[in-house]
Amino acid sequence: MTRRAMVRGVGHYLPERIVPNSFFEDIVDTSDEWIRTRSGIERRHFAAEGETTSHMAVKAAKAALKDAGMSVGDIDAIIVATTTPDLTFPSTATMVQQGLGMERGFAFDIQAVCAGFIFALVNANALIVTGQAERILVIGAETFSRLLDMKDRATCVLFGDGAGALVLEAHAATGTNADRGILASDLNSDGRDRDMLYVDGGPSSTGTTGVVKMLGNQLFRRAVERLTETAHHALGKAGLSDNDVDWIVPHQANIRIIQGTAKKMGIPMEKVIVTVADHGNTSAASIPLALSVGKAEGKIKKGDLIVTEAIGGGLAWGGVVLRW
Ligand code: UT7
Repeated sequence: MTRRAMVRGVGHYLPERIVPNSFFEDIVDTSDEWIRTRSGIERRHFAAEGETTSHMAVKAAKAALKDAGMSVGDIDAIIVATTTPDLTFPSTATMVQQGLGMERGFAFDIQAVCAGFIFALVNANALIVTGQAERILVIGAETFSRLLDMKDRATCVLFGDGAGALVLEAHAATGTNADRGILASDLNSDGRDRDMLYVDGGPSSTGTTGVVKMLGNQLFRRAVERLTETAHHALGKAGLSDNDVDWIVPHQANIRIIQGTAKKMGIPMEKVIVTVADHGNTSAASIPLALSVGKAEGKIKKGDLIVTEAIGGGLAWGGVVLRW
């Protein structure tokens, strides 16, 4: 028997305020047409004043617990992937722990920017497989709107806010790739590319929060290459190939990156979950949001083989293969 981490529930939360592309036409030199054709984004959600990452994470976590038919007392740990914590410390995860009324277990944050949810999933899987925890809430949550320079048209039009959550649970499996749960993963980073995407502030440098800076065009080219590579590495480790994939659930940064990666893998767009038009790039929240929407729309079903992949600041990138 092999111990595996299986998805038991999924949920998400999006702030009420929807911001259409036309909003940016009034503040920078851009157009709805440019944003749609270059990125695939049509609208995004922005958090309300006073609404924080932990507030959104708590709402997504409650939705995932409901979907799993569990209560917070069943959970041993919380991992929050975020680049936009409420405070420099304590971790957003401990605030979520308090927000959920969880009085035991442990909670911590993971910072791998847009790839954060992949890194969080892999860590949660390791904690479950090694017997440290039975059930873990894995959350991706971001208020990326608070990191935007609203005078920089190259970045301010691309990002949005939101949160998504999974409940992972240990189960006894056979050890073959027919098992449900996380089957394989692949993690990477390369600090030499830090200037491609970063925030120009922080506690130990400027003492400020800073704003997003991005060399979008260079990152675009790197993204398709790296995402295809990491998806293939993860599939290979699981003893599976592109033909076995039911769904690609990609990080939602740009529809052209999503299409390029699917094309390189030889997988038709009908097998790709796409939310970028409605959510924009929500960084670490984009994958759990897409999983939640994909399930709610009746696309992702029990037993489906999913490859999920992401790349972001660092650069950091990776992929996970799981059977739903
Ligand atoms: O989540 C982390 C990972 N993030 C990504 O992977 C993002 C990767 N990059 C991208 O998604 C794309 O590179 C962008 C959507 C950011 C940009 O698309 P692009 O096709 O790479 O455009 P570009 O950067 O090469 O810019 C083309 C032109 C430039 O003008 P010139 O130099 O050709 O005159 C830009 O100044 O578009 C201009 N431009 C804009 N025009 C209107 C840049 N931003 C805008 C804008 N509206 N918002």
